[in-house]
Amino acid sequence: MDNRPIGVFDSGVGGLTALREIKALLPHEDIVYFGDTGRLPYGSKSRDTIIRFAQQIIRFLLSKDVKILVAACGTISSTLPAAVSENLPVPYFGVVEPAAQAACALSQNERIGVIATKTSIRNNAYGRAIHTIRPKARVFGCACPLLVPLVEDNHIAGDDPIARMIVSYYLENLRPHDIDTLILGCTHYPMLYDIINETLDYSVTLVDPGRETARCVQTFLTMHGMLSAREERGKCSYYMTDSAEDFCSVASIFLSDDIRKDARQIDITESEGKEPS
Ligand code: DGL
Repeated sequence: MDNRPIGVFDSGVGGLTALREIKALLPHEDIVYFGDTGRLPYGSKSRDTIIRFAQQIIRFLLSKDVKILVAACGTISSTLPAAVSENLPVPYFGVVEPAAQAACALSQNERIGVIATKTSIRNNAYGRAIHTIRPKARVFGCACPLLVPLVEDNHIAGDDPIARMIVSYYLENLRPHDIDTLILGCTHYPMLYDIINETLDYSVTLVDPGRETARCVQTFLTMHGMLSAREERGKCSYYMTDSAEDFCSVASIFLSDDIRKDARQIDITESEGKEPS
């Protein structure tokens, strides 16, 4: 057994879609969450910048003595080189492989859509992961750069007119391709799950990368005897690099929980995670 926390990170609130699933599956685990809200969006940044930011976050989370790292971010997962993730002192999970595996298992017609950030669509990590499992699958990617700022700005209600309009604008690109499965390849997007589902007339199976990754984490910790031995519910602490208030207003709605007392803004660039005095 291992009572150390699970480290979950993203550029912003998107990784909470993974955190919520981990909490549901593994309620006794402590979780340290990091959202780099001060430097988001990552999806339009260069590969070198994304890797540098991810390494800073990983160092911060390791300083919190995490037992496992979950890059709950499609952009980081699709960018961080294996040479970095494989050489970490604790096990590392990204969201690309779990999402690709689920999509391959679910698709009947082998026509799979992927919506994600520009970076994730350009580097085709989801497409490559899908083709390893199903070489004949057709993969149709669509970058949706406006969705991350939209979610960060709390436009996540099912009847939000701006969110509905922008989602429909992007999904129009996928209509001609007759996909039966769609990977929500950026972890922010499951916060718009109902809108996306409705826009596609409920005719496409949606894959939530956070949920699939949470299942992999559960299996891994169980198989390796690394679950927490605690009997009470685990605690979550949240760190972010911009206003805790803004982060908490989205997080509290999405998690149906007031997380303000557990949230802290930190400066990761200068002090590698030292809390401001
Ligand atoms: N949640 C991140 C992802 O999964 C968003 C990236 C961004 O900040 O653009 O890709």
